[in-house]
Amino acid sequence: MKVAGSIRVPGDKSLSHRALILSALADGRSRVRALLESHDVRSTAAALTALGVSIAGRDGETLIDGRGRRGLRPPALDLDCGNSGTTARLLAGVVAGHPFRARFIGDASLSRRPMRRIKQPLEAMGATVELERGDGLPMAVHGADLHSVVWTNPVASAQTKSAILLGALVAGVRAEVSEPAPTRDHTERLLGAMGASVNTDGDRVVIEPVAGLAPLDFDVPGDPSSAAFLVALALLADGGEIELPNVALNARRVGFFEIARRMGGAISSIVERDAAGEPVGTIRATPSPLRGTIVAGSDVPAMIDELVLLACVAARAEGVTTVQGAQELRVKESDRIATVVQNLRAVGARAEETPDGFVVEGSRGPLRGHVRTHGDHRVAMAFGVLASLPGNDVQIDDRTCVAVSYPGFWDDVKRVTR
Ligand code: S3P
Repeated sequence: MKVAGSIRVPGDKSLSHRALILSALADGRSRVRALLESHDVRSTAAALTALGVSIAGRDGETLIDGRGRRGLRPPALDLDCGNSGTTARLLAGVVAGHPFRARFIGDASLSRRPMRRIKQPLEAMGATVELERGDGLPMAVHGADLHSVVWTNPVASAQTKSAILLGALVAGVRAEVSEPAPTRDHTERLLGAMGASVNTDGDRVVIEPVAGLAPLDFDVPGDPSSAAFLVALALLADGGEIELPNVALNARRVGFFEIARRMGGAISSIVERDAAGEPVGTIRATPSPLRGTIVAGSDVPAMIDELVLLACVAARAEGVTTVQGAQELRVKESDRIATVVQNLRAVGARAEETPDGFVVEGSRGPLRGHVRTHGDHRVAMAFGVLASLPGNDVQIDDRTCVAVSYPGFWDDVKRVTR
């Protein structure tokens, strides 16, 4: 199988959520182009609409009429976050700073995911967060006049960090957040581009009291997490090259490309411009013989969403790949450690779970069998890469769940393979 072509991957999911949320809190009309059109981002848009924000699409642009820093309205209905942890956790921070209550619900997968990690800091700031089942959703957030906070996150989570920063933004107070390892800093960068004073020093971030946010005029760059699947396809192909222009190349997101290079992958990435504080550029990848590697806990945050893909790539590399310090994978859209190991075994690859990661032994033999995605979009796409390779016969139970983050995934795979 050969690869060829240039693909503009869809807009970055994390940036799309944040562009909508921060625009909703700005003074005036924001204009956002190339917003990701996926289920998760629609969940955020629908929740913001329920909170009184007017969002309209026109000529490829999304227009968001900001209601000001503390101008949202109490929702008449529960906020349905669907499958999206970013929607639930970031909007919990936003609601915590408003003088009203909102109840958050979601699908079965999201309802199981931990919310105590945001309850604790938001309550330390003065809000009340009720977790009806002890953790997860449904969750009722009672907003209040929040006060400033100095918080140390016990887990590396950009969503938790962002919930605190957004609560502080709405309340106009200072917040200082430290994390065990630096996580994606899109909230910080966009806030800075909209006029807020946010200072980062390694694993510590401080937001100063914000008077108001300027509206945003932003082209959302392509999602490196979506690009990673096409890069993997190129690495595992027999010939050709894939080019992916206009991808977000934030250092805290590109861990997969770095580790894949360490495994022998021929991947180049060139930063060409800056969009609202985010480096953006072109990635190119060509087929490469790969060897196993060790991914340490410190490597994990910059590739947290790509570890399922890494496991699938490792199944085709020479030797053993070990991932450590990735226990957060157990509380993603599925328990991704269990899901990826079970599915690799189901198609005939060698893989073992560990409490905080996995071990995969690569081979060249054909992979054959049925994959159960558990509705997890990244599981579907990672095994979709293996399914596209000649000699393999991999059936995926639910191909439609890719719509959570990359609705055109299957079409793009077809377009670049020969
Ligand atoms: C995200 C942060 C990460 C990531 C998720 C998106 C974000 O989650 O896995 O897909 O947009 O902030 P955690 O904050 O739970 O690590």
